[in-house]
Amino acid sequence: MAERISVSTIGKYEDQEICLEGWIYNTRSSGKLHFLQVRDGSGVVQCVVFKGEVAPEVFERAGSISQESSVRVTGTVREDKRSPLGYEIGVSDLEIVHAAEPYPITPKEHGTAFLMDHRHLWLRSSRQHAILRIRSEIIKACRDYFDDNGFVLLDAPIFTPSSCEGTSTLFETDYFEEKAYLTQSGQLYAEAAAMAFGKVYCFGPTFRAEKSKTRRHLTEFWMVEPEVAFMDLEGDMDLAEDFVSAVVQRVLENRRLELEQLERDLEPLERVVKPFPRITYTEAVAMLKEAGVDHRWGDDFGAEDETLLANKFDRPVLVHRYPAECKAFYMKADPEDSNLALCVDMLAPEGYGEIIGGGQREDSLEELRRKIAEHGLDEEPFQWYLDLRRYGSVPHAGFGLGIERTVAWVCGLSHVRETIPFPRMLQRLYP
Ligand code: 4AD
Ligand code: MG
Repeated sequence: MAERISVSTIGKYEDQEICLEGWIYNTRSSGKLHFLQVRDGSGVVQCVVFKGEVAPEVFERAGSISQESSVRVTGTVREDKRSPLGYEIGVSDLEIVHAAEPYPITPKEHGTAFLMDHRHLWLRSSRQHAILRIRSEIIKACRDYFDDNGFVLLDAPIFTPSSCEGTSTLFETDYFEEKAYLTQSGQLYAEAAAMAFGKVYCFGPTFRAEKSKTRRHLTEFWMVEPEVAFMDLEGDMDLAEDFVSAVVQRVLENRRLELEQLERDLEPLERVVKPFPRITYTEAVAMLKEAGVDHRWGDDFGAEDETLLANKFDRPVLVHRYPAECKAFYMKADPEDSNLALCVDMLAPEGYGEIIGGGQREDSLEELRRKIAEHGLDEEPFQWYLDLRRYGSVPHAGFGLGIERTVAWVCGLSHVRETIPFPRMLQRLYP
């Protein structure tokens, strides 16, 4: 039997008889020829069925085959200079594994709600394919970056007894008659891990009961979170810019074809090299004022403010030292001005907003207890976290990068819903 190959490596089999398994992406016929576009997950190749070269029943089968039917094609790989792939398959035999029912997604335009309801099938289309391959590359780039720079992967639990990012967006579950919450961030556990291993990261799904219907919010999203012992805010910003430049450059290197397929303007991505500009929150407020936005000092920035600020720069910008009042309880206060937190957000260019949030953590036991109380949180479930300040406390810092917002930015998409295989949003739990 002929060797089974995949489309991605077809060039190695020129003039050889091969077998390809896949699905019918599209068909076209003209007289004695049927052209079948067959996709196998790694790519799409044109398979040409010529009446004079196959048995009559094979020719007939090829002419009546429905979109998304699964097939086994036997044939010879031929050079085809006109195709983007450079090769086509001259078919000698065609087996139908399963004849598909009329396929709901056709080349005509469909609304987003329809496509989202058929997300399980929509994944097969070329645009979704490109986006999710880039997502896969970004995740691998994140892992490789930390693995290659001395970080140890220590994943955080998903069921937690307490909140990390404030109580307003917690998903509550019944944990054998006790209350448990789906994690909003692995950070607190990553801090424990950093005290054990020095440099760590966790990478997993995180959950927020976001009631907002924006282009940037999911209720379930993936976050990669490094945490480093003996690191301050400056070191944290150095790490964040080095990390993000490495990830973007890696996508440019390995997924250029997919970016071009998405018609992504590559120039703004090529500029994503360190150093990134750094401004303080207070400077950012002044920039907003100058642009005619009346921003109250003390409030967090909204999506429009972030876009306005990011547009002032040609690459991601690091905004540091926000007012403590708009940030989480674990942030360390700036020793120069206790109203400020030693924190940082990274804002992506082109209107994509915050992709990273992080900073230096409160390492004093007394201060942390005071902040837990100030935020109206119960101290009991945080005893283990307070222990980290009882036994060899050190300055430490870290951050979290949201994968979906990063994918949306790199791909140039207007909404995060296409950046994850099965998005979870306020009004979306199916499929
Ligand atoms: O800024 P956030 O809330 O920071 C934390 O959770 C820290 N505990 C992380 C840390 O220091 N280890 O969230 C971090 C990032 C955001 O910058 C954003 O990219 C993403 O997570 N994010 C969301 N992405 C999609 N949907 C949502 N609802 C998101 N909320 C946050
Ligand atoms: Mg944030």
